[in-house]
Amino acid sequence: MTSSATAQTLAIDGGTPVFENMVPFMSLGLTQADIAAANEVLESGMLRAASKCAALEERFAKATDAKHGMTCANGTCALQLAYGATIKAGDDVLVPAWTYIATASMIVAAGANPIFCDVHEDTYQIDIADAEKRITPKTTAISVTHLYGAPVDIDAVEALARKHNLKVIYDAAQAHLATYKGKGLGAFGDVVTYSFYATKNLGTGEGGMVTTNDDAIARTIGLLRSHGESGKYLHESIGFNYRMNDITGAIGLSKLDRLLDQTNRRRAVATRFHAIIDAIDGVDRPRIDDGLDPAWHLYTCRFDPEVLSGTRDEFCAALKAEGVPTAVHYPKPLTTQPAFKDIVTDHPPVSTMLCERVFCIPIHHDLSDEQADKIGEAIKKVAAARMK
Ligand SMILES: Cc1ncc(COP(=O)(O)O)c(C=O)c1O
Repeated sequence: MTSSATAQTLAIDGGTPVFENMVPFMSLGLTQADIAAANEVLESGMLRAASKCAALEERFAKATDAKHGMTCANGTCALQLAYGATIKAGDDVLVPAWTYIATASMIVAAGANPIFCDVHEDTYQIDIADAEKRITPKTTAISVTHLYGAPVDIDAVEALARKHNLKVIYDAAQAHLATYKGKGLGAFGDVVTYSFYATKNLGTGEGGMVTTNDDAIARTIGLLRSHGESGKYLHESIGFNYRMNDITGAIGLSKLDRLLDQTNRRRAVATRFHAIIDAIDGVDRPRIDDGLDPAWHLYTCRFDPEVLSGTRDEFCAALKAEGVPTAVHYPKPLTTQPAFKDIVTDHPPVSTMLCERVFCIPIHHDLSDEQADKIGEAIKKVAAARMK
């Protein structure tokens, strides 16, 4: 494709934008049912974790094929609870260099050492071959993120874990209701953690969940979540207060009623994007292997500087002028975060490269087919104008 044959004047250069008004990047609105559910709790006066949290735990665990569900204050606490039940101070824990900081920083908070592993360029998920090379005699666990809502290669993670006797923690903060080979993500690993932060697919404001199929781990997490309390004012072990409350629980339950339909709508939009982006030179889409059904929290494309002129940020500025907002998850790999400067040993190349190439386009349950197609049109228009 040559730019002169197809290029239209970009909105950033004074042309007509694809969208008259900016298309929303996400859809976060509460329904009257959510508000009524929260009001019911407020009117009851039962604000602490009670029947609503218990019901959310039961329904969420069932929806994700897990035995135990435990609500907590947020996804970061969920990780702390998961690590508290699976790793100990001084352990080495494999973790991707390409994820949100909490997946790794809570390993440090547990007194253990994150070992940063590289990821695959086209799936963005942990590269198990690289992870295996980084195993030390102190490595006891692997913590992997189902990033952007797409399941990792669970078979590969579990084969590595079996071979090296590692605990497996999955950070599914972005992956509510994603499935792997027909099973919910709660069916796998020792512990799975979720975030219900406002912008997540199931957003309650703040909130989180831990699931496990292991009764002993569930008990430990229950103790850690609430000051090690095994009886009234009987503190069996040191713990925290990482509990949810019933207002949050009620909102979560109400939103859970719609989550599968909303996730399926995200899936339909993603399928539309795949077809459009596959036909655009210079922009690549996420690779999704057979057997994976992502939750599509984010739809993350890659800018190819070999094919397109300028930078990813210039490309995104041009998309914004066309009415398509974008976001960069993430602008840095974890290995260049100042917080980890004293423990980083190297900069995994793919993670380091991705931070200058990725951009997320709008995906949510309120996006119409027409909007999805026009987002594709805007990407095609900008790419054609920027062809080298
Ligand atoms: C992959 C991942 N892990 C953990 C978290 C932390 O969750 P929270 O913000 O609820 O503490 C997030 C939230 O952004 C996340 O995206």
